Amino acid sequence: MKKVDERRIEDLLSQLTLEEKINMIHGVAIFHSGGVPRLGIPPLKMSDGPMGVRKEFAYDSWINVGTTDDLVSYLPSNSALASTWSRDLAYKTGKVLGAEARGRGKDVILAPGINIKRSPLCGRNFEYMSEDPRLVEELVVPLVKGIQENDVAACVKHLAANNQETDRLEVDTYVDQRSLREIYLPGFKAAIDKGESHTIMGAYNRLYGEFCSQSRYLLTELLRDEWGYDGAVISDWGAVHDTKEAAESGLDIEMSVTANFDDYYMANPLLEAVRNGEIKEEYIDKKIRNILRTMLRLNMLGEDRKNRVPGTYNAPHHREAIQECAEESIILLKNENNRLPLQKDKLKTLAIIGQNGERVHAGGGGSAEIKALYEISPLLGMKMELGGNVEVKYAKGYYVPTKEEKELNWQQDSLEKQTITKEEAELKAEKQEKETRARQEELLQEAVALARDTEEVILVVGLDHEYDVEGGDRKDMKLPYGQDRLIKEVLAVNPSAIVVVVAGSPIEMGSWADATSAIVWCYYAGMEGGRALAKVLLGKVNPSGKLAETFPKTHMDCPAHKLGEFGNYGKITYNEGVYVGYRYYDSYDIDVEFPFGHGLSYTTFKYSDLKVEVDQTNKEDVDVRIQVTIENTGSVYGAEVVQVYVSDKEASVDRPIHELKGFEKVYLKPGEKQNVNITLNKDSFSFYDVESKRFVVEPGEFEIQLGSSSRDIRLVETIIL
Ligand code: GLC
Repeated sequence: MKKVDERRIEDLLSQLTLEEKINMIHGVAIFHSGGVPRLGIPPLKMSDGPMGVRKEFAYDSWINVGTTDDLVSYLPSNSALASTWSRDLAYKTGKVLGAEARGRGKDVILAPGINIKRSPLCGRNFEYMSEDPRLVEELVVPLVKGIQENDVAACVKHLAANNQETDRLEVDTYVDQRSLREIYLPGFKAAIDKGESHTIMGAYNRLYGEFCSQSRYLLTELLRDEWGYDGAVISDWGAVHDTKEAAESGLDIEMSVTANFDDYYMANPLLEAVRNGEIKEEYIDKKIRNILRTMLRLNMLGEDRKNRVPGTYNAPHHREAIQECAEESIILLKNENNRLPLQKDKLKTLAIIGQNGERVHAGGGGSAEIKALYEISPLLGMKMELGGNVEVKYAKGYYVPTKEEKELNWQQDSLEKQTITKEEAELKAEKQEKETRARQEELLQEAVALARDTEEVILVVGLDHEYDVEGGDRKDMKLPYGQDRLIKEVLAVNPSAIVVVVAGSPIEMGSWADATSAIVWCYYAGMEGGRALAKVLLGKVNPSGKLAETFPKTHMDCPAHKLGEFGNYGKITYNEGVYVGYRYYDSYDIDVEFPFGHGLSYTTFKYSDLKVEVDQTNKEDVDVRIQVTIENTGSVYGAEVVQVYVSDKEASVDRPIHELKGFEKVYLKPGEKQNVNITLNKDSFSFYDVESKRFVVEPGEFEIQLGSSSRDIRLVETIIL
């Protein structure tokens, strides 16, 4: 972490009264903690979120101030970013997010969320990156650095093991130490050690019985004592439950969702407890030091403020970076007989079928919601790219109940709140159901008729922020709104139709994936998502996205559901251990819809001349230098993500059949060859030994596997360590 002049901290600390210190360690507004004007200490202003700077709220309520000066750039979700496998784009989008936060006058951006995608059903997966800790480590570091170049603190969240939304405020998570260290913590440790994240957010859930945001184990023993973290730890909003535990833990700032700021656990109750000697003031002083150290790192104090980066938002070059990221995030899952790209000059009429063709998503998802300056839908993107000589038709294809209709449903569910009788409510619900079914049928028939009459048909289906949303998990991976039937009926009348899915988490595709020649996957990719998709479909951009999470056939195949527990209330145990994602599917040879690391291109790549050199001269470490030649053997420019998996052939513990340990993205012209060099060190061969409480490398045979996905291994070399 960046060194600061600790004397300045001690000087300020010595002048602060107890009341002033207390004022600094809890929210005095929904999104900022208290300052001390007398000493030139400003409040610490925070804002969500991972996809841009959230709209401005009144200081003491969740009401949008409603002016037009909080329209911002809407960035690709972390799921989209992870699908680019590009450290450079992580850095670029980090710089955009940080500049926009600074431009909006914020000191802390509550991002990125990096919790591991343990189950495809977690409502917040769209906000997270991957099922694999190494990919998270490699992308979170440049992302945090990009953010913090703007004198804004990243706030990497949510520490730790916050992998479901069900019962998120209370659930008590039990994950064995080895899995915690090998799977769930590495992203946070890299964000701190290499990313130097100025702040960290404690999660809502419990870990081993302690609430994460006031956990002695997590925030003191691990974060402070073992990792030596000296930045500021901020609770999730409403995640603190006890004054003494919070005060004596490594937590620095308590935030919450209500306006009774003086009643917060670390407000008056703590002031009283210190006054009556129940809690030592030195615990408060530790918090103040971490907060002041963070402020110094952000050039927030004294003369430093003159050097503070001003930032800006909605800048054109921000949108260029967003567009680049969106384009590289799109994943070509299937492309039989080179169905794609579309031949623009042969196109006369094109039909887009499915509401995700025209829907926009920025304003949903929970705290990641964004008041976007604009958002280009797939339909708009196609029209912008095609121009006026191609007729683009559109049919909704399926029915999405409007908000108020859902509200009505919600009201009927909570009978105690409703004014009408149970019978009337049931009659109303029946009537509404019938209308919905009629509406659905009508839209379906209209779409099928259009598909029958149009040569080129693109289905655009998927999810929305009714399903990809904070505070709730899906109950399965099924497409909602009767979309499976729409897809099948359209393919029945027009087998050449292609399927585009816009979603934040995997869906079941088994009932129609074989019936279409091409499937394209788009995570919520920000304001330029629709145009990026259009460019990919028309071949202006050659897709290079790769799955950062396995797409299982159904959630029942997922280890979190098959071996572990998911979606429980009260207590949850991660029985699957380290067998998360492809670590499980590949080790147990489970059939999946699309594997981790998978993504096709409009060109082809050849892997050759694998060389692996082991250098063990350094007793403390080992260098395994890998070189491979990649050639673009097709006819168009393209990018390939070369993945390196390590397989431990003889270990004293049970280890997954292989694990991602390195990757490089190479951009090649047709016919171009490039040598790709990737160096692994001892960390890439180690596992966490719970007896000795450290990572160990056991001597023996290891396989170095080079592949285009976890299930498309091209070259293998065996080494002995
Ligand atoms: C929410 C989320 C967290 C967000 C915070 C402030 O509940 O869990 O990610 O940053 O509260 O909105």
